[in-house]
Amino acid sequence: MPARNNVDAGEWWRGATLYQVYPLSFHDADNDGWGDLQGVIEGLDYIAGLGVDGIWLCPVHLSAMEDYGYDPIDQKKINPHLGTESDFDELVRASHGRGLKIVLDQVWTYTSHLHEWFIESRSSRDNPKADWYLWADAKPDGTEPNNWRSLFGGPAWEWCPSRRQYYMTHFLPGMPHLRAQHPDVQSALLDVGKHWIDKGVDGFRFDVANFLMVDDALRDNPPSETEDCEFPLWAQRMVYDGSREESFAFVERIRKLLDEAGDLYSVAEISSDKPLADALAYCSGNRRFHSAYATKLGSGERPLAKTLMRQLKAMGGSGAWLTHFLSNHDYVRGPTSIFGTKASAAQWQAVLAVLMAARGNLHVYQGDELGLPHAELPRDEVRDRQSIRYYPHGVQRDGARTPFPWKSAAPNLGFNGGTQPWLNASPAHGALARDLQEADAGSTLQVFRRLMALRQGSAALRHGDMQVSVVADRLLIIERRTHGESMKLVVNLDDAPRDASAEARASQPALASPGIGYGDGRLRLPGWGFAFLPT
Ligand code: NOJ
Repeated sequence: MPARNNVDAGEWWRGATLYQVYPLSFHDADNDGWGDLQGVIEGLDYIAGLGVDGIWLCPVHLSAMEDYGYDPIDQKKINPHLGTESDFDELVRASHGRGLKIVLDQVWTYTSHLHEWFIESRSSRDNPKADWYLWADAKPDGTEPNNWRSLFGGPAWEWCPSRRQYYMTHFLPGMPHLRAQHPDVQSALLDVGKHWIDKGVDGFRFDVANFLMVDDALRDNPPSETEDCEFPLWAQRMVYDGSREESFAFVERIRKLLDEAGDLYSVAEISSDKPLADALAYCSGNRRFHSAYATKLGSGERPLAKTLMRQLKAMGGSGAWLTHFLSNHDYVRGPTSIFGTKASAAQWQAVLAVLMAARGNLHVYQGDELGLPHAELPRDEVRDRQSIRYYPHGVQRDGARTPFPWKSAAPNLGFNGGTQPWLNASPAHGALARDLQEADAGSTLQVFRRLMALRQGSAALRHGDMQVSVVADRLLIIERRTHGESMKLVVNLDDAPRDASAEARASQPALASPGIGYGDGRLRLPGWGFAFLPT
């Protein structure tokens, strides 16, 4: 098994790689059509064998399933689609038994409208939880209190007849925004955190953490300066409905809870029109979150080498410890978003090499290690409410959530025993299924394991400083350096082969893609070839 966890016990998380499991789509052990916790347990040997440090486990709590886990009805109960309380306990034990940490998804900025907190809050204007959510009167003409928009489309306000008031939502109408300014809300949320800490988790991923608080004065957002208004949300700057300075005092309370409980880790998801600045702000110093992420690596204009350089420089050069990723359950899968529908294995492996050389933490989404392209779903199979609203525009998120392909020739690609899954497995994933890639030494899965083992065994890659440069728009060079050790990645992000002797000084590669030529002071990279060179 590849080396892992070779870090300070006190800072196990620094430089760590978390494998993101979207449990509804990972493995359906009880064959009811939904992936489940027993399915994750059955997949643990596979995950541990990738050499990662732990799992980011997407929501397991009781959910209204309008947003598939991201709409909690009770943050402490287990979603029955996924299993039971004892399945969860078994998962924590079994993960720890394999040296894997569990970082659990937490949704603290809103709940489902079916949550008992909201049911009480909406019942009147003077109940004990009346101010737990963001309520506001209509304007004199009956319209919404201000101009804020929902990320899922339309105004950020829903009318509630029982209170004759609007409540705010960043997402679906059934996902009301919690008012974390309220001390009792803070206590209730910290109590949720304690519950899971007592159950033995090693940290949390905080969903849209920069939405924890919005402006209590409800000021209008100013118009945006960008021309890109495909969705009305982007027509305004998110100045007042997120990323508020006043939320940091609560973030510091969260961090205190984690520090007092031991060496627990936190990573914040940031959703913002100034993603990098906000991600940095939410994990700067050592009293906020340990890490944060906002922008997918490799997304943006071409050429790819320049995009990656710009992103890595911006993210990796700062004092903060950001998290890098190529795919997750909210985006078009990495190979498709970077290379389109015809992504080759060599292209994707080159990008994985870049990810492994990045300074910070890494998230690897289930299927990244297989190079899965985004799945295309016919309109009548789309389940995600945000995607339905904009179909065929916008990110069709279900394409990143189809069942994991375990076996190429099995029903539903081995996701379960043959019951119709909640989303169909993608026919395009059959040829990339895990079983086929296990049998092929040059497969993306095998390359991924070698890359991961290299990162885990190298203090420079895991902790070192980073310098990034680009030669002629196509050759990306990443140098990582820590006390007494350094490692350079040279990667050809182009179809044409190229000579990289000048950049590489031709030391013997610690790891390289097939087909490279080195020796006699020369290094020649095939198209999309890469070499890690200890220097
Ligand atoms: C962020 C989650 O990653 C996404 O899946 C979800 O839809 C939104 N939060 C809203 O709940």
